[in-house]
Amino acid sequence: MKLSDYVSLNHGDSLLLDYPENHFDMIYFDPPFNSNRDYKMSDTSDVGFKDKWNDDDYEKFIESNILKLKSLLKETGTLFFHISSSCMFIPEKVLRGHFKFVEPIFWKKCRSKNNVKHKLGSVVDIIFKCNMGSKSKFNLVEQDKDEKYLSSCFKNEDYRGKYSLGHLVTEKTKIGYKYSITVEGKTFEPVSGWRIKKDKLELLINDDRVHVPVKKNGNLYKKIYLEENSGKPCTDLWDDIHSISQGNEERKYPTAKPIKLLERLIQISTDEGDIVLDPMSGSGVTGEACDNLKRHCVLNDLNLDAINIIKSRFTKVQE
Ligand SMILES: C[S@@+](CC[C@H](N)C(=O)[O-])C[C@H]1O[C@@H](n2cnc3c(N)ncnc32)[C@H](O)[C@@H]1O
Repeated sequence: MKLSDYVSLNHGDSLLLDYPENHFDMIYFDPPFNSNRDYKMSDTSDVGFKDKWNDDDYEKFIESNILKLKSLLKETGTLFFHISSSCMFIPEKVLRGHFKFVEPIFWKKCRSKNNVKHKLGSVVDIIFKCNMGSKSKFNLVEQDKDEKYLSSCFKNEDYRGKYSLGHLVTEKTKIGYKYSITVEGKTFEPVSGWRIKKDKLELLINDDRVHVPVKKNGNLYKKIYLEENSGKPCTDLWDDIHSISQGNEERKYPTAKPIKLLERLIQISTDEGDIVLDPMSGSGVTGEACDNLKRHCVLNDLNLDAINIIKSRFTKVQE
């Protein structure tokens, strides 16, 4: 069923998805977590799904799905596997058996857990980024600069504007390019060497893009101007996207993920016009994110409640 120009919807078991092999550029897989509980929207609602397994059955369920999803993924594609940090062992074991690269993204979904008394509060989900080879599609995405980052990093200022300090000297545990250089009458020759060659450093000096220390034994640094940097490159720790319960988004499903999270995963791994699959899509957040970013998307879920929530999400979008 077509929900918009970009999004279509299937109702059924993920293992029965009927698409050609090597079809999708990205797959976002957010299955039940083996969390030993059942999820409901509220005490008076049955909307949700069951998540009680024994470990062997859960491993079989994950293994069969990973085999199926891998066959649907292009060689250059990315599979993202979303799991809570306390249930990551079985998925990681299965994924490492099927993908050459399995890299965790640590999503800090909330700040604290005030209701936990007898164990450490779990504030992190893991999203395994899985690729078959090194030629996978990857777009560098930037995170917004928060106020704390801006005030702590861009402390210096010159006639061009505020700037932060980028390292020019190689870390002490490594060996860089060995040479000495003189700036403003001071000579610098770091023991561990430089990160760039001498001609490149001379260009920076001539363009007045080098910060000369006032302190006697200080280092030279490259000036990184605020105006020339729209954001900071994303790392594998995402602490700037809050879960639905701590943000402004309406919760449509017990385990719904925030739309910003899906948008970032989509931007990292696809371009406009590419095609994404969410085989256990719950409330269909991935579909809305794809619609916003002009990526084609196939949503699928076994649960009829989820299917109805997805349909209502798209009726709203069209209104
Ligand atoms: C953790 S939820 C997904 C939440 C979703 N990412 C969202 O943001 O709303 C897992 C979903 O998997 C679905 N599911 C479980 N087993 C399935 C299967 N074999 N085939 C398709 N969907 C399945 C459940 O109905 C549930 O909606």
